[in-house]
Amino acid sequence: MRSKPTILKLGGSVVTKKEKLFTPNKRAITRLVKEIKFASVESLLVIHGGGSFGHPVAKKYRITEGFKDPSQIMGFSKTHQAMVSLNKLILDTLIQEGIPTMTIQPSSLVITDNGRMQHMDIKIVSRLLELEIIPVLYGDVVLDSVQGFSILSGDQLVSSLAIKLGADRIILGIDVDGLYTSDPKIDPSASLIQHINLQELKNLQYKIGEAKVPDVTGGMRGKILELIPAIEQGIKAIIVNAVKPNNVYRALKGEKVIGTIIKKGDKVA
Ligand code: IPE
Repeated sequence: MRSKPTILKLGGSVVTKKEKLFTPNKRAITRLVKEIKFASVESLLVIHGGGSFGHPVAKKYRITEGFKDPSQIMGFSKTHQAMVSLNKLILDTLIQEGIPTMTIQPSSLVITDNGRMQHMDIKIVSRLLELEIIPVLYGDVVLDSVQGFSILSGDQLVSSLAIKLGADRIILGIDVDGLYTSDPKIDPSASLIQHINLQELKNLQYKIGEAKVPDVTGGMRGKILELIPAIEQGIKAIIVNAVKPNNVYRALKGEKVIGTIIKKGDKVA
């Protein structure tokens, strides 16, 4: 590998219309793919979320609870299929833009233990990065050694892959500007946190509310909790609003961008 990889997560609320079942946000996908193209990062791995594809199906069939009754089995397949169809749209768009890329299906790399990653073979992902082919992964249904099956969020993948691949940084593209002092949708005095260290982040997570739309992986609080292990390893993370044009481009280029920078130690960028 030439340089340490950058891990970019595109949230489901960015690549889909979260309130409308199985509706991709094609315009956002095309724009983000162009931003990835023009930023031309040397070693990049992309992970996308489920939005209105994975979450509603996983919720309907109670996939996060694990295998409890046979009626869920079809839901396991349908949740995966929903993610495959969203992934295909993203892959098609990357390839149309001439970006060398390949999907790695998380359910064939990972086994979880009560929903937590137990095993992940990263050889293929590393090899793709060496060849400068962008691996694309996504939140998926996975087999679970205790509960039969589970959901592996894109955010759990972000953190684990960042640690295993010795990533340089994590960029989380979501549908708000970053982390706030309190929930900006309820509290008008909420202000954007531009820099935060690990300890402050750990204190803050208790104040972050749950998602309003179906989100089987815990909304913003789930995302933050998942980031912690990577931050503990000294990997820097930046949260940006990927709904707003050029934020992902700027973050990829390492340019100044509105968002939240999370670092293990100090507060200084
Ligand atoms: C969820 O992945 C995947 C499934 C529900 C199958 P994420 O938890 O990473 O998705 P978003 O970004 O929150 O939509």
